Amino acid sequence: MADPAPVLVLLGGAGDLSMRMLLPSLLHLEMDGLLPEGLRVIAVGRAEGDAASYRKDVKAHIKEKAGEAWDRLSARLDYLSTDAGKPEGAEALKDRIGEAGLIVIYYALSPSLFAPVTKALSEAGLIGENTRLVLEKPIGRDLESSRQTNAVIAEAAEERQVFRIDHYLGKETVQNLIALRFANALFEPLWNNLAIDHVQITVAETQEVGDRWRYYDEYGAIRDMLQNHMLQLLCLVAMEPPSDLEADAVRNEKVKVLRSLRPFTPEAAEKDSVRGQYVAGMADGHPAASYEAEVGRPSGTETFVALTAWIDNWRWKGVPFFLRTGKRMAERRTEIVIQFKAVPHSIFGPYGDRDIQANRLVIELQPHEDISLTIMNKRPGLNGEHMRLQPLPLSLSLAKALGEEGGRRRIAYERLLLDVMRGDPTLFVRRDEVEEAWRFVDGVAEAWAQAGVQPKPYPAGSWGPAGASGLIERSGRAWND
Ligand code: BG6
Repeated sequence: MADPAPVLVLLGGAGDLSMRMLLPSLLHLEMDGLLPEGLRVIAVGRAEGDAASYRKDVKAHIKEKAGEAWDRLSARLDYLSTDAGKPEGAEALKDRIGEAGLIVIYYALSPSLFAPVTKALSEAGLIGENTRLVLEKPIGRDLESSRQTNAVIAEAAEERQVFRIDHYLGKETVQNLIALRFANALFEPLWNNLAIDHVQITVAETQEVGDRWRYYDEYGAIRDMLQNHMLQLLCLVAMEPPSDLEADAVRNEKVKVLRSLRPFTPEAAEKDSVRGQYVAGMADGHPAASYEAEVGRPSGTETFVALTAWIDNWRWKGVPFFLRTGKRMAERRTEIVIQFKAVPHSIFGPYGDRDIQANRLVIELQPHEDISLTIMNKRPGLNGEHMRLQPLPLSLSLAKALGEEGGRRRIAYERLLLDVMRGDPTLFVRRDEVEEAWRFVDGVAEAWAQAGVQPKPYPAGSWGPAGASGLIERSGRAWND
């Protein structure tokens, strides 16, 4: 007899993440025929409704009205109106699931619900051998609460059943970082403090916090972005070569980087970090409201953070990592800049000395996918008495280079949803990684609290508070703006 069909349960099935990311991802997978045969999707939410009203809602949210694929996906969708954190809710879900092979339970919920929901599901006997739990970031609000949540989860399920999502790891360009570093012999000998001057990681968003403020106001930029996406990018840039791509081989190397992060101190807080919050300004040519106007009351939460991180190990001794992220910034741009050191001695005379710039590798992840390396060249022509120089980019636009073959740009969640269903944890975050990342972020929060660092205002549509330039310029360097 064939195995019973798999079930994907979306807790928070009517919420923002499900509507904006998870269901469109499922539709794309459906279009490509990649969803497991017979898969049922049960969305769970507290709002009233049934399968028919839910399908209508989802259809209204999804941009691509892909005829046949939508019909197929729609036929898989079911809706259960209940509170899965209550015993009767968990029982109702169990009944609705009925007989199933694999059960994937996706927590598209506020992190504060992870523990109570897990307890209720476990008591209802819903977490068995064939259950996988998918947890959205952030797990907890600090190290202590994340440990408590992870402990409740560890009582209910084994670590192999727990898939902690950081959707940045599902992005094609983020995985490409691993290919760039470890499939080219060119970079690795230079990937250290002998050749690299500093690293910049920028995740700038133009979007406002908007109606997510209830969640965001409690977390802020350090918990929403730094603790997870930014530190994951830092790990992939800084980690030692893993022995292979097996999940734990990669995760062991990432955790070593996190453990080497120098703890933040109150003395470093003023010098090495900038906290900001947007005030009214202009975004995309239109007047934009302040963060506090969105929240509707005064708030001490940061919507921007820039800081200098140091990795205390042999490879990175003395190389600052400048990190910054913010909402309502001048541009949407996610990039990693590897700034190499200057030539040790210039032979080009006074003009050449002025012209010459150190090589810079820019890995742009969003909105364009581009890798470019600036190389110094001779300026064409006779140049008078002295040779003149200019930097030119050696550029690999992935869209241009791969053309059709590059294919449609996928939503990061597509890859991750498939990996969960296949049971491949490589692109998911292990418990110790989450906890080490919290250790660093707690240090930043504590240093700010002790040093009394408050968010500095920056106009919506700018590159953050003035201090963000000062942070990097004090060391004689500049952001790649
Ligand atoms: C989420 C954060 O994890 O990532 C959001 O909670 C943020 O605040 C988003 O906007 C950014 O993701 P992306 O893929 O648009 O860069």
